[in-house]
Amino acid sequence: MMFPSQNCAEGLRGALRSLVRPVAVVTAAHAGRNHAMAATAFCEVSMDPPSMLVCINRLNATHLAVSEGADVCLNLLAEDQREISRRCGGGVVPEERFEVGDWVLGPGGPPRLADACASILLRPGRIVDHATHAVVIGEVVDVALRDDRRPLGFHDGAYLFPLAGAALNLVAQSALLGEAGSMTDGFLMLDVMRAFYWFDEGLQSALRARGWEAVSRSQSMAFANIALGVRRPIDLARNLGITRQGVSKMLQEMVDREWIVIEPDPTDGRASVVAFSDKSQQLRADALEILSRIDQELGERLGRKTVDALRATLGRDWGPPPEISALPSAQ
Ligand SMILES: Cc1cc2nc3c(=O)[nH]c(=O)nc-3n(C[C@H](O)[C@H](O)[C@H](O)COP(=O)(O)O)c2cc1C
Repeated sequence: MMFPSQNCAEGLRGALRSLVRPVAVVTAAHAGRNHAMAATAFCEVSMDPPSMLVCINRLNATHLAVSEGADVCLNLLAEDQREISRRCGGGVVPEERFEVGDWVLGPGGPPRLADACASILLRPGRIVDHATHAVVIGEVVDVALRDDRRPLGFHDGAYLFPLAGAALNLVAQSALLGEAGSMTDGFLMLDVMRAFYWFDEGLQSALRARGWEAVSRSQSMAFANIALGVRRPIDLARNLGITRQGVSKMLQEMVDREWIVIEPDPTDGRASVVAFSDKSQQLRADALEILSRIDQELGERLGRKTVDALRATLGRDWGPPPEISALPSAQ
């Protein structure tokens, strides 16, 4: 679709909505106050010296702090940090923005989100005003990086997760394969993934509403695996598609939160297995109750018979995963 010049803003909005953008919370500390704002308009500028830019609306409180010389921190959000983005995107008043998240509110520096994918400290060098916004270009003076976190994305006005991103990539690649791989043909695997995210979203937000600490998507999948009897870290790593180091870090976090315990494997003295802790009992009871209410809600929306038939199909023994050996020859 072509947009005449007076509608270019609309066209640009549409174009930007079609992109998957990473989300950051830009923070600054100034005159005894901490500021935080969600942002997607940021990117790298150069590597020598390492520098980045972020575009800040000149009406935002963070802009005042930066224009008076404050450093800024770009906290790159992880998949389970939507609520932090929502709060810092204007969802709550500034005083309540640090109430959710593992914030380090140190003296003399901008707030840092300890479990973000990365926190990049910028020392603003140039600030270029353009219309409503200021382009703040800063030199990177410190980076805290965590390699076990997956990024949060923003697409078409909604939050996206990396696995959903992988599914989108798959669809995009399939378009290159011609009609047989086009989106309209549909892949059952993608439908199943989408359905899983739908359930997990409902579960996560209901758990948060009951006051539970945020459970990341991988932790949620680890919970489901443990409930299904997968107890060895190496098997969890394989099922979750992450490295052994990644799974160890994640499990350690779950131990620290007292959700699980790691104990010796009774069948192999040198190995260990994961088990639910006694303290996780209430969390699991809440999760089960929420899941049964989500099932019920789905039944009301789609019809009980449809949902029962779906459950019966998914619950059947499909046999071992297929071994599709060779590509069919080109016609
Ligand atoms: C996903 C998302 C991305 C945003 N990106 C930007 C951005 O790049 N620059 C900006 O100035 N505001 C952006 N905003 C809006 C600000 O986060 C929002 O106006 C915030 O309330 C400003 O902080 P203040 O109320 O303390 O001034 C974004 C909001 C959301 C939810």
